[in-house]
Amino acid sequence: MAPMEGVTDSIFRNTFREYYGGVDKYFTPFISPNDTKKFTTREYKDIDPEKNNIQTTVPQLITGKSEHFIWAMNEIYKLGFREINFNLGCPSGTVVAKKKGSGLLYYPEDLDALLYDVFEAKPSDLNISIKTRLGKLDPEEFYEILDIYNKYQISELTIHPRIQKDFYRERVRRDFFDYAVENTSLPLIYNGDLKSVNQVVDCLNQYPEIEGVMLGRGLIANPTLALACKNPKEEYAFDKKTFGDFHQRLLDSYVEVLSGQVPVLHRMKEFWVYWQENFSGSEKSIKTIKKAKSLAEYKGAVAQILSK
Ligand SMILES: Cc1cc2nc3c(=O)[nH]c(=O)nc-3n(C[C@H](O)[C@H](O)[C@H](O)COP(=O)(O)O)c2cc1C
Repeated sequence: MAPMEGVTDSIFRNTFREYYGGVDKYFTPFISPNDTKKFTTREYKDIDPEKNNIQTTVPQLITGKSEHFIWAMNEIYKLGFREINFNLGCPSGTVVAKKKGSGLLYYPEDLDALLYDVFEAKPSDLNISIKTRLGKLDPEEFYEILDIYNKYQISELTIHPRIQKDFYRERVRRDFFDYAVENTSLPLIYNGDLKSVNQVVDCLNQYPEIEGVMLGRGLIANPTLALACKNPKEEYAFDKKTFGDFHQRLLDSYVEVLSGQVPVLHRMKEFWVYWQENFSGSEKSIKTIKKAKSLAEYKGAVAQILSK
């Protein structure tokens, strides 16, 4: 499961595992260590061993400074995790302006120096994986970036074959993923726009040498996607009953931990950006969900959709 800020927090991941599953690894949304050398409450929830399965959860860090990375790495290691993922893909303007995420890709020397420090400092039984874009402004930046990655024992290199300025909309640049397959011996993971079992199967057939795929928006929209990919002989139609139970458990959990209706509604509305595609014919109720100002209004619209 891809890391998605505002979507795949520990509550979502745990509830997803309980009702659906089929996923080998769950990446946390990015944690951004800084001079305070403290995790925020939100960040700690994502790595709290009491709230997360440390075997299958991979904390993700975003930073442009080795000092911050190494501090957070050591803290996370002490909690028991044995893989940390480095975010070199986030395209958000504020992140990029701070030379973080895909912003750091534009400074290959700094990237190299940071990776050097991290790999020197890391405990020997800790894996460092990377999630990357191709570059910032031009996909050809990727040739130099891949040369840098090839110098380190990166445990897994997940490539989202877009550049920063593509955000999440432009067409994925599969030809640059082909280039990576031919020019690295690092274990590769493909990420980007896989929404159906057929697309996942085609991708794995096209690249038999890769380790797997990372699924984001497609998996949130269709929570049986990973299960269906793992068990190709079974039928996995979208089932409203399971979805209804899953939804109820998520809602109850957020009501329990968040204070007030507004943050709960905000949270739940974010999921519907993806879920709505399963409910064609319910556009009116989806609109009510998006505009809901109270939980009562929200629940009424959801009940209407699920009873159809
Ligand atoms: C709302 C949203 C939040 C995201 N947050 C993160 C994040 O915290 N860390 C990260 O590496 N990628 C993040 N991503 C990127 C996804 O992990 C993934 O690379 C992207 O959605 C492409 O994969 P997909 O087409 O399967 O969704 C985010 C994407 C979206 C849409």
